Amino acid sequence: MMLCVIPNLLFLMLSLPSLTFINTENVNKQEKLFLSSMGLSSRPKPSHQAPVPSLLWKLFKKGNKLTSASDSDPCVVSEYGVRGNIVRFIQDQGSLISAPAVHCFNCVRKHLFFNMSVLEDVEQLSFAQLEMKFKQDLSHLGPHVFSVDLYRVLRTTLKGVTHQSSRKLLLSQSLGPGAHASVQVNLTDLGETWRKPGKNFGMQVELQLKHLSNVLQEHAYVKNPHSAVQIAPMPELHSSLVAVSLNPLQCRSRRKRSAAYYLPVTPSNVCKPRRLYIDFKDVGWQDWIIAPQGYLANYCHGECPFPLSESLNGTNHAILQTLVHSFDPKGTPQPCCVPIKLSPISMLYYDNNDNVVLRHYEDMVVDECGCR
Ligand SMILES: *[C@@H]1O[C@H](CO)[C@@H](O)[C@H](O)[C@H]1NC(C)=O
Ligand SMILES: *[C@@H]1O[C@H](CO)[C@@H](O)[C@H](O)[C@H]1NC(C)=O
Ligand SMILES: *[C@@H]1O[C@H](CO)[C@@H](O)[C@H](O)[C@H]1NC(C)=O
Repeated sequence: MMLCVIPNLLFLMLSLPSLTFINTENVNKQEKLFLSSMGLSSRPKPSHQAPVPSLLWKLFKKGNKLTSASDSDPCVVSEYGVRGNIVRFIQDQGSLISAPAVHCFNCVRKHLFFNMSVLEDVEQLSFAQLEMKFKQDLSHLGPHVFSVDLYRVLRTTLKGVTHQSSRKLLLSQSLGPGAHASVQVNLTDLGETWRKPGKNFGMQVELQLKHLSNVLQEHAYVKNPHSAVQIAPMPELHSSLVAVSLNPLQCRSRRKRSAAYYLPVTPSNVCKPRRLYIDFKDVGWQDWIIAPQGYLANYCHGECPFPLSESLNGTNHAILQTLVHSFDPKGTPQPCCVPIKLSPISMLYYDNNDNVVLRHYEDMVVDECGCR
């Protein structure tokens, strides 16, 4: 029997490591191709496995539900009411600013930097939101609050020092036990600006404890011989940027996943979908793919015999090819049994920058086969 080409990249790669005769160079090439279609330059090696935000888990579960849930458009993120098939939690790469500032006495300043270059050029950014949250509980504050001032940095000097004139106030808010312990800011427009090379200088956040009682003051500050003042039990502020974007190339018309997702086991050597469970462990991807750990991908296999019945979904060309094959079996092969209908899944993974990404991914499950 002739070998038909299986178009799905995964299947080629998945000629599994256990088969030793495989040309590893080809496997690497296939892996690179698959990764680049996910916007990845190489196989991610997450340095620390950042926790997965609950929102992403929720979206992931929704994206992988069968039938009824696929009524909702997979290219809309309904939580934010925007179009998109990729949701990223971009990690903050900024660090604490240690240089003392005249205007910011008894406060903590931090530089925030979100690398928006992780978005590919083809993607359309539809929503970006900054979330700042205290890691600790603020109930010990009593009646006191933290004021949070957020600035956009417009430019930096050579020494990396930011002057008052080169930043712009975006938001000023108080946080405390009485108020919400997190701040959310819509940064869609700014996020778009940051995608242009050399335009992203990040932001600065200033955290200041206001209305100190004498008791608190004693506990709040310790003398540090190296810098003027350092604030001891300042709570840690965790910042992340949610970015929703649309890759229009990976978003086709909505399709319902057919019942063929769970295939009945019927022995037959005629072209049809066969069950194949892909375990990401088998390809060594378990470190960076968070979920699913594997999925029912299926594959097409079987003969396309003459006469080609209607259920084999043959093209006119395939019908003629089987006819010629029946006269000249040595010179002309049978048509190929290939996927003609595929459906998407959602994948949750770490990218090359340790960000947690949820992506709607097309053509991952074989639903129907045909002779082509
Ligand atoms: C931002 O991400 C891009 C793409 O992953 C990378 O090439 C670049 O080095 C990153 N920049 C910074 C400042 O981390
Ligand atoms: C966020 O800002 C963008 C641009 O200013 C605006 O179009 C969008 O409606 C805002 N989204 C929300 C949820 O506020
Ligand atoms: C051919 O298509 C029909 C519906 O379009 C489907 O029910 C059938 O299973 C397909 N045949 C194969 C071999 O997958």
